[in-house]
Amino acid sequence: MRVFQPIDIKDTDEGPFTFDGEGWTLITAAKAPALGETAPKVNTMTASWGGVTYVWNKRCAVIFVRESRYTREFLDEAGRFSLCFFDHQQFRREMKYLGAVSGRDEDKIAGARLTVSYDNGIPYFDEAKDVLLCHTLYHQTFTPEGFHDPALRTQFYPNGDEHIMYIAEIRKVMIR
Ligand SMILES: Cc1cc2nc3c(=O)[nH]c(=O)nc-3n(C[C@H](O)[C@H](O)[C@H](O)COP(=O)(O)O)c2cc1C
Repeated sequence: MRVFQPIDIKDTDEGPFTFDGEGWTLITAAKAPALGETAPKVNTMTASWGGVTYVWNKRCAVIFVRESRYTREFLDEAGRFSLCFFDHQQFRREMKYLGAVSGRDEDKIAGARLTVSYDNGIPYFDEAKDVLLCHTLYHQTFTPEGFHDPALRTQFYPNGDEHIMYIAEIRKVMIR
């Protein structure tokens, strides 16, 4: 198991937590063990939309997850999740795979050969470079009447499956 160093949450203001471009993240959450099983079920997905922000006087992460994602079920059940940032060059193949295949269809985490660790019940990956541990405060699905520019709706949601915005308090930051 690798050693992570907790840092002050205020340091996220200047941290490396950009999601776009080279900074994809993995959103990971756990469901309680199924009947007859002992281990929680964990799912993860690659995300490039989101960021770190300040709202309700708290440092928060914001992510955007389409309704159809399997990970969405985990986020809603757990109310807590991690955002794991990786060395982009080294883990590009894994991040692409985790963003192309659904956990409904195969055991993606085993497929990507990533190691799950837990911090207060929140799953994250040992191989990550930086980790944000988050508790959801608010979520809301994008609605048609909310769009000021209808072209965005046509472009991104021709068949529905809108994104759900999750705003989550960053409870802990760990860096390698
Ligand atoms: C680079 C990249 C960025 C992505 N960003 C997002 C995102 O921000 N929100 C989203 O809902 N899906 C995003 N996806 C798609 C999901 O990761 C993908 O649909 C994934 O297979 C969902 O897995 P799941 O069904 O196991 O949850 C992204 C995929 C890639 C490759």
